[in-house]
Amino acid sequence: MDHFHLKDGVLHCEGVPLPRIAAEIGTPVYVYSTATMVRHAGVMKAALAGLADPLIAYAVKANPNVAVLATLARQGLGADIVSGGEYARARAAGIAAEKIVFSGVGKTADEMARALEGGLYQFNLESLEEAEMLSQVAASMGLAAPVGFRVNPDVAAGTHAKITTGSAENKFGIPIGDAPAAYARIRRLPGMKVQGVAVHIGSQLTSLAPLEAAFARVGALIAELRAVGCAIEVADLGGGLGVPYNPALPEPPSPADYGAMVRRIAGDWGVRLVFEPGRLITGNAGVLLTRVIRVKPGATHPFLIVDAAMNDLMRPALYDAWHEIGAVEPKGPKMTTTVVGPVCESGDTFATAREMDEVAADDLVVFRTAGAYGAAMANSYNSRAVTPEVLVDGDRWAVVRKRIEVAELIAGDAIPDWLARPVTAP
Ligand code: LLP
Repeated sequence: MDHFHLKDGVLHCEGVPLPRIAAEIGTPVYVYSTATMVRHAGVMKAALAGLADPLIAYAVKANPNVAVLATLARQGLGADIVSGGEYARARAAGIAAEKIVFSGVGKTADEMARALEGGLYQFNLESLEEAEMLSQVAASMGLAAPVGFRVNPDVAAGTHAKITTGSAENKFGIPIGDAPAAYARIRRLPGMKVQGVAVHIGSQLTSLAPLEAAFARVGALIAELRAVGCAIEVADLGGGLGVPYNPALPEPPSPADYGAMVRRIAGDWGVRLVFEPGRLITGNAGVLLTRVIRVKPGATHPFLIVDAAMNDLMRPALYDAWHEIGAVEPKGPKMTTTVVGPVCESGDTFATAREMDEVAADDLVVFRTAGAYGAAMANSYNSRAVTPEVLVDGDRWAVVRKRIEVAELIAGDAIPDWLARPVTAP
């Protein structure tokens, strides 16, 4: 459920009519609903009720805006981070160090040192090589790094190949069969506090079965490790639960169903459980608000050319993702159209032959469920300004990231001195 609704025929985010934001800030612009984020944090907490002190570490990559993170920090959420940049954002937003877990296959020594210095709950190690580097870094600082291995359970997540992470051929984690030997090895390394185990098999999962299979394997591993005297106190079960994008498809399992499954499989492990939801928290809390530039005739259907493009919302181009598209002031009639942006690639297509509200040039349109992996992945391809972000809370709203204008992008480039002379034709 989200807080984008029609009031007097006009789409609002909570108490704010979207045309007001478009008029003041321009388009395209991302708009986020505080109430929706708060609701989803609450739904996740309720789903995990009954577990001993679970840590919900929001996956910062989904939407790293500091205002979003500050909203979630107030709900008691921690952070799952994958870079020094995300660590800095989480801390800048007020997320407590002891609620931060650090995932990712390519942590550098510098990133490790900064996280150790500022403090964190756990490093999720993704290779023995990484463990050895962290051991050196921590030992040189006179610290013990809290660690667990991320294991790769080799289960098919049943999601898009580009967001599958728990199959044997993926780069993530260590093969679960190698884990006992890897734990034996890191227990002998200096600068290590071996405390946990982690798993994350993919994103936008629409069935609980692969998660359950992965968790069962982690449970067996914990027992095996304990049998050889390795105390495991933390199990990080990752994120990945899908959200509804296409209203015509069955809804993904609910957080409550997920929580019940976790209690059944992991409730008696005797560990602190960590969860890393990203999309579940921010996905439905955001829309990308855009304006129709023009409608152009096409061979099969008219093209609806909007002022947002693949650089603003990459998901359709990258994953053939479906985003619901609707008019901000729907009049009733429908049309079938192919929705595209201005970027010079045929991949800059948001939807093909989509039945949607009838709109015309200058009308406002929204892409729904764009709060996760939307602005986070935006860029300036085709020298387009980087899309701003607005946060709504009831009747008030604020720009939480300003548009990065083309002049600022150009100012970041530099002409070297050998090119600075006036152009003389050969
Ligand atoms: N934990 C780890 C270690 C992850 O790699 C991810 C996502 C998450 C948690 C959060 O997953 P979520 O709950 O949001 O599904 N850009 C893609 C999604 C990439 C996900 C990468 N990892 C998309 O737009 O669908």
